Amino acid sequence: MDKIRIIGGNQLNGEITISGAKNAALPLMIASLLSEEKLILNNVPALADVKQLQKILENHGVEINILENSDDDDMGGQSISFDAKTITDTCAPYELVSAMRASFWVIGPLLARFGEAKVSLPGGCAIGTRPVDFFLDGLKSLGAHIEIADGYVIAKAPKGGLRGNRVHFPKVSVGATHTIMMAAVLADGITIIENAAREPEISNVANCLVAMGAKISGIDTHTLTIEGVSKLHGANFAVLPDRIEAGTFAMAVAMSGGNVLMKRGRTSDLQAAVDVLIEAGVEIEQEEDGFRVIANGAGLRPIDVETDPFPGFPTDLQAQYMALMTRSAGVVNIKETIFENRFMHVAELSRFGADIKVDGQLAVVSGVARLHGAQVMATDLRASVSLVIAGLVADGQTIVSRIYHLDRGFERLEEKLRRCGADIERISD
Ligand code: UD1
Repeated sequence: MDKIRIIGGNQLNGEITISGAKNAALPLMIASLLSEEKLILNNVPALADVKQLQKILENHGVEINILENSDDDDMGGQSISFDAKTITDTCAPYELVSAMRASFWVIGPLLARFGEAKVSLPGGCAIGTRPVDFFLDGLKSLGAHIEIADGYVIAKAPKGGLRGNRVHFPKVSVGATHTIMMAAVLADGITIIENAAREPEISNVANCLVAMGAKISGIDTHTLTIEGVSKLHGANFAVLPDRIEAGTFAMAVAMSGGNVLMKRGRTSDLQAAVDVLIEAGVEIEQEEDGFRVIANGAGLRPIDVETDPFPGFPTDLQAQYMALMTRSAGVVNIKETIFENRFMHVAELSRFGADIKVDGQLAVVSGVARLHGAQVMATDLRASVSLVIAGLVADGQTIVSRIYHLDRGFERLEEKLRRCGADIERISD
């Protein structure tokens, strides 16, 4: 299995092109199931999760064609067409769904367009129990009959199809919002989703659905109002830049010091994290084609952080921020409020000599002067990149194993960092 080897100590300088967002590309691909016409998506990142979802969609009968591959210099992403004219199977089997939680979301469009779906209960990163009750309650509100048998959710729409209704989520959920929104666009009547997630990826998908002929208002807010239509048509739509990737590289520069332009990165999608970095002592400047991060690599001011749904500090940057704060000039409290088991990186960061104590959902990080290179293991997608960030400044050599987690969500990570001066390479056993 591949590993990543890093020799710490180099500053990062240059330019990194931010890829299309994984968390938008996946639901956008799933949205193709809603129409019998072609959906063409641009700026799709080449990631293991995208390939996995391609397999799932192909299993339903979707015809997928890669129109254009990213070229090496531009790193412009792929253009892919999805033709869901003929759906041969409305079942998403365990073997395919268990690798990635987001594949469960196909239940919304399948049910809306075909009146039935049988989808395996999901898997994905081991960061908490991640139940699906909001999805199922939401679909039931739209009139669906739901049964769970042998690890599968079997959903059936009433005669005449799903019916619009009020859906109130007890807690903000990205996946449940995507799924109910996709189900509601083809339902009969009006659906109001209250306490909806308003992450930029939700708005990206909502705007794509509108481009396909859906009627959605309240985009960018916590209340989405959807007037069902009988059909959606094709569209040509671009995946937005990945704010988590941009935030991750910003933290890498903050850690190692240097000056890097995050080309296509948008601070507006990342304001809470940008504000924290600025408060900690990092310079961040908006430029025409992205934002620039400048840091001198010295110990940053310790700034407490609590994760929250958008526009709060993203849980998907918590591990990276913790890595950064292991060398802060003081003590930092990091509270995880979204997932109950998202501190698995703590044990691995400790191998570098970090001083972190966990008490329930709170991690207390006391900054240390130096980190030491170590052999560490990636445990989930975002945690694994926090180990790379630590390795960039650790004395000597760091080896990160189980990097298939990284490949699920970061496109050409080593290459992007190497181009900016990092001593990092992928090695095979
Ligand atoms: C998505 C993102 C993930 C991010 C997370 C939170 C994708 C592909 N993944 O995951 O990167 O970390 O949002 O920003 O976009 N919950 C329930 N019942 C449900 C659904 C969710 O209790 O039916 C809970 C979850 O356990 C969690 C919280 O709601 O505690 C938020 O989870 P959710 O927003 O649904 O995360 P995902 O959509 O899985």
